[in-house]
Amino acid sequence: MLTWAPLLALSYLLGCIPTAVVVCRALGIADPRRHGSGNPGATNVLRLGGPLAALLTLFGDLAKGASAVFLAYWAELTQFMAGLCGVAAVIGHLFPAFGQRHGGKGMATTFGVLLALSPSLGIVALASWVLIALLSKTASLASITTALVTPLATWLLLPGLLGAVLLISALLILRHHDNIQRLLAGEERRL
Ligand code: G3P
Repeated sequence: MLTWAPLLALSYLLGCIPTAVVVCRALGIADPRRHGSGNPGATNVLRLGGPLAALLTLFGDLAKGASAVFLAYWAELTQFMAGLCGVAAVIGHLFPAFGQRHGGKGMATTFGVLLALSPSLGIVALASWVLIALLSKTASLASITTALVTPLATWLLLPGLLGAVLLISALLILRHHDNIQRLLAGEERRL
């Protein structure tokens, strides 16, 4: 049975898989790292290639996060360690060791981590994203709001994971710094 150290490394490597780039290459769509917002994530793939490509990217990124948590459970690690494996997968997505080191912003991978750790927590996070996205038509605002709401939901539903979720939320918000500047300037792209 694998112990926590190789599982953390494996989770990081899973997170490094550049789903958006793979999907865009397979479907003959422009490289999302160089076009649109420059973010290799489902939102930018939606802009560049439409709903099917975006859904494939979303599910691929979500599966990376969920797999890291499920691997930890398969290895009989504690829920706390499964949460840290989830953090490692998100870090891999944000700061990949390969794929030209151009990471994404982490929202879909975070949804996968949260759904695998606790479906109710994952659904709260997804619902908050969808609600804000529908109201504002702005994916980044939905992601930032979700990053703020999720620690509160974790504190209520699964307090033992608050540390891991706070870490993920802080990383998500830091990664959206350029979106925050555009939002403040009223120049953010709409969905
Ligand atoms: O989840 C990604 C989203 O928060 C921002 O994406 O492409 O608008 O920078 P984008």
